[in-house]
Amino acid sequence: MTEQVILDCDPGRDDAFAIALAIASPDEINLLAITAVVGNVELSKTQRNARMICEICSRSDIPVYGGADKPLKRPPVHAAEHHGVTGLHGMEVFDPAQPLQSQFAVDYMLDTLAAADAGTITIVAIGPLTNLALAMEKDADTFARAKQVVIMGGAGRAGGNITPAAEFNFYADPHAAAKVLACGRPLVMFGLDVTHQVLGGQDEADRLSHGGPAANALSGMVLPINENGTGKTHSPLHDPCTFAWLISPNLFDAKMVNIEVECDSELTMGMSVVDMRGSSGRAPNVLWAHDVDGPAVVDLIIRRIAAI
Ligand code: RIB
Ligand code: CA
Repeated sequence: MTEQVILDCDPGRDDAFAIALAIASPDEINLLAITAVVGNVELSKTQRNARMICEICSRSDIPVYGGADKPLKRPPVHAAEHHGVTGLHGMEVFDPAQPLQSQFAVDYMLDTLAAADAGTITIVAIGPLTNLALAMEKDADTFARAKQVVIMGGAGRAGGNITPAAEFNFYADPHAAAKVLACGRPLVMFGLDVTHQVLGGQDEADRLSHGGPAANALSGMVLPINENGTGKTHSPLHDPCTFAWLISPNLFDAKMVNIEVECDSELTMGMSVVDMRGSSGRAPNVLWAHDVDGPAVVDLIIRRIAAI
């Protein structure tokens, strides 16, 4: 079955691979639209980058909508050290031919959910969850018409990547994450526990550089930015794990657990508390991916993108 998808994202290098994987998988994914949110870089750049990637993938027909330019309550935080100041370090930035849609992303999301049959549209969210939380605040009943929400975010045993306790998307807007985790719709979540097993390195960059024109254009964004001298040779392909699951769910091990988000303590702000053993007594609310066939997911991502 082809999933009807609205993609909410903050491109972002790995977001770009998620967009490309979706476009490269027309039998499984129909990408209805992209909604951009502040995250890795400012909204002005995330919305431009989303339009750029669609153009590079010869899909400028996919509409891109601008969303929130700041989190619900917290000051914006960015991740330029991983994505560059453009958000797409490793490729030339240009002004896309396709204009940004004039409608606010949250209104587009609600209007589209209202017009479609209930339970037919999947929201894939791979940035801070601010747009989704705003949609819930504006019209929770319409948001509840979503089939499911597939999220890249959070961390369990893996620990955080922006603080010792928190993963970036949840740290950037913990109040939005907490709200979305309580939305009552089917939630599937891919945190650092699995995305840190889905790594791209020189071999993957080479495969893309010898692939189609879009793959070649994206190939410079596989390797980590080593300007901070870490000497890292691979970088996690976080965001495409969402679409990899929609395409081949058998590559992941997941279980229903309770996940709550810390929104008060500065020490653990944005921490996703993953109750793997059920010790909290709180009702399970998320299908949590806790393990993955990392090499097989990497091959799926690269093989599909290399073909476009
Ligand atoms: O922690 C990884 C997540 O934060 C990814 O979505 C990446 O793009 C950044 O937004
Ligand atoms: Ca992202």
